[in-house]
Amino acid sequence: MMNSEDWLFMMTSAIERRIKQHVHAPVHTWFAPCSPGLEPVLARELASIEAAEITEIPGGVEFKGKLELAYRANLWLRTANRVLMRVAEFRSRAPEELFRHTKDVRWETLLPALPLRVEVSLHGSRMTSDSLIERTLRDAIRDRLDEQSVPRVREAVAEGPNQLLLVRLEENRVTLSLDTSGELLHKRGYREETAKAPIRETLAAGILLAAGFDGSAPLLDPMCGAGTFPIEAALIARRLPPGLHRSFLFEQWPSFKEATWRHLKTKALEQTLAAAPHPIFAQDLNSGAIAATRANAQRAGVLADLTLKAADFFSAQAPEGPAGWIVCNPPYGVRIGDHEDAGRLYGRIGSKLRGTYSGWRFAIVVPEPSFYGALKLPEESRLILPHGGLKIGVTIGRLSEQVEPTPAS
Ligand SMILES: C[S@@+](CC[C@H](N)C(=O)[O-])C[C@H]1O[C@@H](n2cnc3c(N)ncnc32)[C@H](O)[C@@H]1O
Repeated sequence: MMNSEDWLFMMTSAIERRIKQHVHAPVHTWFAPCSPGLEPVLARELASIEAAEITEIPGGVEFKGKLELAYRANLWLRTANRVLMRVAEFRSRAPEELFRHTKDVRWETLLPALPLRVEVSLHGSRMTSDSLIERTLRDAIRDRLDEQSVPRVREAVAEGPNQLLLVRLEENRVTLSLDTSGELLHKRGYREETAKAPIRETLAAGILLAAGFDGSAPLLDPMCGAGTFPIEAALIARRLPPGLHRSFLFEQWPSFKEATWRHLKTKALEQTLAAAPHPIFAQDLNSGAIAATRANAQRAGVLADLTLKAADFFSAQAPEGPAGWIVCNPPYGVRIGDHEDAGRLYGRIGSKLRGTYSGWRFAIVVPEPSFYGALKLPEESRLILPHGGLKIGVTIGRLSEQVEPTPAS
């Protein structure tokens, strides 16, 4: 007769074998959601980490690779919101079908011992009740795990990590995806101090990459706020992976390969640069913003790469040395000072750029379509991105070498 310890050992080894066979060995499909507009930038990032079959779809990029690729994606991607594993895709018109197909998934090889949070999104499916869909999924997963003698999955908790399972029903086609990231990837861990209207780290990195910034020339953010652009620029210039100092959900998965993860981080560190090859200037009118940038940059480990200065953009000179990139997210809000509206501010920004920064490449956030005309910049491309409930534009281009006379302000 087999005692309970022997039986448990046998079940555990059977699951370990299944993990090797069904999670470690095969090529999986992954999906990295991003802000709409950044798909081409994210696709280029994925190509640089050797993802296969990269396909842009609205709101993200799908790609293929083994489990290790998801580790690299979380470590390296600067513009993705998270990295999801596509776990199953099937057709289902009724709860019984949903139950059957869900129970077929090898959850015992995938789910960590964490509470499960289920998010349902419905797009023209026959089943219309989120709560019924969630209950059916939970029942199917519980039955499967019971049969495999795996402890039951608990309900989601407000505090602490949950395993997120995304369920998408589009015209009766069900896609089940598991999150590998945990906290969203824009939470790099460095930004504790914020100034007014900070831009998300993933958006800032996306704008820099879309403008072609690679650290091969200086960068200036003359209205740096809490320093998001300069810090992301320093991370790019030094080839520092944005996920180096944080933890991820996949580290809790039963399939986690700790040695592989350690090796990827060591390799990443070996190819970073000790310092940014060109100066990164962070300036702001407000000395509180400079203090916030300093504290954030210190936490990100890039303070030595930044040259910080409290300065008024309109009276400051261009930094000495070669032209580089100027990136800027000017204040939103309609009124700047007592008499000047934001449109006029954009007019002044445009003429200052044309007068002082000849030869510099630029990426300027434009919150209102009417401001492009006021800026009068030689635009080469434009990004349209979501930001704080608004759609913002980013005008990207290069200022001509010809210096315009600086108008009196
Ligand atoms: C929208 S915030 C920038 C947010 C920043 N990108 C971030 O992620 O934290 C605009 C910044 O412009 C600064 N500012 C406004 N007028 C300025 C001027 N004339 N010169 C320099 N900075 C200015 C404000 O102090 C504010 O920090």
